[in-house]
Amino acid sequence: MDVDIQVDNSSDRASIYSSLLPQISSLIEHETDLIANLANVAAVLRTHLGFFWVGFYLVKESSLVLGPFQGELACTRIDFGKGVCGTAWQTKATQRVPDVDQFAGHIACSSASRSELVVPILLGDDVVAVLDIDSDQLDDFTETDQYWIEQLADKLGRLF
Ligand code: SME
Repeated sequence: MDVDIQVDNSSDRASIYSSLLPQISSLIEHETDLIANLANVAAVLRTHLGFFWVGFYLVKESSLVLGPFQGELACTRIDFGKGVCGTAWQTKATQRVPDVDQFAGHIACSSASRSELVVPILLGDDVVAVLDIDSDQLDDFTETDQYWIEQLADKLGRLF
């Protein structure tokens, strides 16, 4: 199977997302293993969008536990309602944070992270994971990023 991703990395982010999403769908529909699929999604997003850190935290009992990711070492467990990730879990809503220093309770796994986008992944009404993207630039995430990452999260919920 050809697992090559074709995208013009020099184009704007909206074009990159619209080109990537169908390719990600096709990539994950050929594999049934959750971890393998999440690992490739993290790799594709980081490689083609250049984010500082991209990864998944999976809901396991009363915590979010670190799952497949690309980037630096990260915190392994986050409690319900804690940090940006735990807030996305609790509220079942995307958290788009332009400046992590202004988010009360932000968990700083890396001091290089300046802005963050966390999208909950739902299976039915339950949050099963969150997709966490960190940037080393302030205010790096727009409604465009939120729109496309939410579209992606919607597809990923079906994998669980
Ligand atoms: N900043 C997150 C923690 C996870 S790391 O960014 C990888 C938070 O506040 O939940």
